Amino acid sequence: MNQLERNMTLGAYNKVAVIGLGYVGLPLAVAFAKHYQVVGYDIDKSRVQELNLFNDETLEIDTDELKDVILAPGGPEGANGLMFTDDLAQIAGCTIFIVTVPTPIDQFKQPNLEPLKSASKQIGTVLKKGDIVIYESTVYPGCTEEDCVPVLESHSGLVFNTDFFVGYSPERINPGDKSRKVEEIVKITSGSTSEVAALVDDLYAKVIVAGTYSAPNIKVAEAAKVIENAQRDINIAFVNEIAKICNKLEISTQEVLKAAGTKWNFQPYKPGLAGGHCIGVDPYYLALKAKEEGYYPGLILAARRLNESMAEHIAAEVVKKMIKKGSLVKGARLLMLGITFKENCTDSRNSKIVEVIAYLAEYGIEVTTYDPWANPEKVKDEFGLTILTKLPEEQFDAIVVGVAHEVFLEINYPSLMKENTIIYDVKGLLPFEVDGQL
Ligand SMILES: NC(=O)c1ccc[n+]([C@@H]2O[C@H](COP(=O)([O-])OP(=O)(O)OC[C@H]3O[C@@H](n4cnc5c(N)ncnc54)[C@H](O)[C@@H]3O)[C@@H](O)[C@H]2O)c1
Repeated sequence: MNQLERNMTLGAYNKVAVIGLGYVGLPLAVAFAKHYQVVGYDIDKSRVQELNLFNDETLEIDTDELKDVILAPGGPEGANGLMFTDDLAQIAGCTIFIVTVPTPIDQFKQPNLEPLKSASKQIGTVLKKGDIVIYESTVYPGCTEEDCVPVLESHSGLVFNTDFFVGYSPERINPGDKSRKVEEIVKITSGSTSEVAALVDDLYAKVIVAGTYSAPNIKVAEAAKVIENAQRDINIAFVNEIAKICNKLEISTQEVLKAAGTKWNFQPYKPGLAGGHCIGVDPYYLALKAKEEGYYPGLILAARRLNESMAEHIAAEVVKKMIKKGSLVKGARLLMLGITFKENCTDSRNSKIVEVIAYLAEYGIEVTTYDPWANPEKVKDEFGLTILTKLPEEQFDAIVVGVAHEVFLEINYPSLMKENTIIYDVKGLLPFEVDGQL
C-alpha cells in the first residue's frame, strides 16, 4: 500500500491548508472549514491580523460568518473549522494544500509567476509523502505541471506522482456577487493521476453544492478557465468597437444594443473598461502559451488591444463634449465618480479609470476622484492617487460616472454643476439624459 492509499484509508485528507487569503482564498477557506480542518495561510501579516479580528476588508465574508467558522486558539483538537496564520510551520501537518495566490502580469504584459513559484517553494519545504497540492490560481495550460511541480520537487526532495501529487481546480467566483457564492458555482476539478483526480473531485464535491465537473486532465482544466475569461474579453471588445463606431455616428450605443438585443441570439454585452485582474490579465497568459507553441493568437490580442484603448477614447470623448458645450479645457475641474475596477466592489487593482484620469490630466484637466467603496490607502499605494470617500461640495466643469456604483444614483447632480457642466456616464448608469456615454 502506498502513502496515498494509506492516507485515504486513514481518512487523512481532511486537513486542508489554503495558501493566500484574498478575494478567492478566504471564501474558499470558509466554505471548506464547514467540512474540514482548515488552516488559512498568508504572507501578509496585516491580512492575517484583520481576519483574526473577524474583519474582512474585501467584504466577501461578514463578521458573523467568520466568528462561526474560526476555531478559538487551542480549540477542540481535530474539529472542523478555520484558523489563520502567517507561520508556515502551522500548515506542516496538512495533507491537502490549495494555492490561491495572485497571477498578475508585469509592465510588459507578460505573466508574472513569482507569487505562484514562491508559494510552491514554501509548500515544498513542508511537503510530505502522500500530500496533494491543488492550484486554483488562473494560469496557462501546462503551468501547474511544467512550472510549479519542478519547484515543489526541488524544495521537498520528493518525487512527483510517486511521493506527492497535484491537482488543478480553477476558481470562478465573481467577488461582490452575493447571489453566486463559491459553493453555488460548478467547480472543475482535475488531478495528476486518475486516482488523485477522483480524490480531488470527492474533496470538492463535499463542499460545492452546485456540483463538480471532473476534467480529463490538468491541462484541460487550466485551459477551460483561461478561455472563459478570454471569451468574455473578446465579446466586450466587440461592443467596445461598436461603441467607437456609434460615437462617430453620434447615435446611442445603448439604444443600438437594446434594439439588437430583441433578436433571440444577440449576446447582451455592454461596452466598458475591461480592467481588473482577471479579464484584463488572463488572456495574456493564454496568448503567451500560444506564442510559445508557435501560434500567434491574433483575435485574442486584437481584443486586448481594443479594450486597452478605451481609456484614451473615453478621455477624448469627454474633452470633445466639454469643448462643444463651451468649456475651457485647460485648468477645468472634473469630478471622477469611482475608481474601483467594477461596480459595488472594493477592488481597485488594475483599474482602468486610473488611465482615464492620466489621459484627462494630459489635456490639463484637474481631476478630483470620489469613491466611497475604495480604500484610499490602497489607491495611494498602488497608483499614487489621492481619492475622496466623501462627496465634495463644489461645482465642477465636468462629471464622469466612471464606475456604476449604485450609490451614485443618490447624488444630487445639479448641486455639483455649473451652467456648462457636462456629464459623461461611461456605463449608462444614470436614469436621465447626459452629454455622453460609451
Ligand atoms: N478575484 C477574482 O475575481 C478571481 C476570480 C477567479 C479567479 N481568480 C484568480 O485567483 C487567484 C487569486 O486571486 P485573488 O483575487 O484572490 O488575489 P488577492 O490578491 O486578493 O489575494 C492573494 C493573497 O495571496 C497572498 N499571497 C501572495 N503570495 C503568497 C505566498 N507566497 N504565500 C501565501 N500567501 C501569499 C497575498 O498576500 C494575498 O492576500 C489569481 O490567480 C486570480 O486570477 C481571481
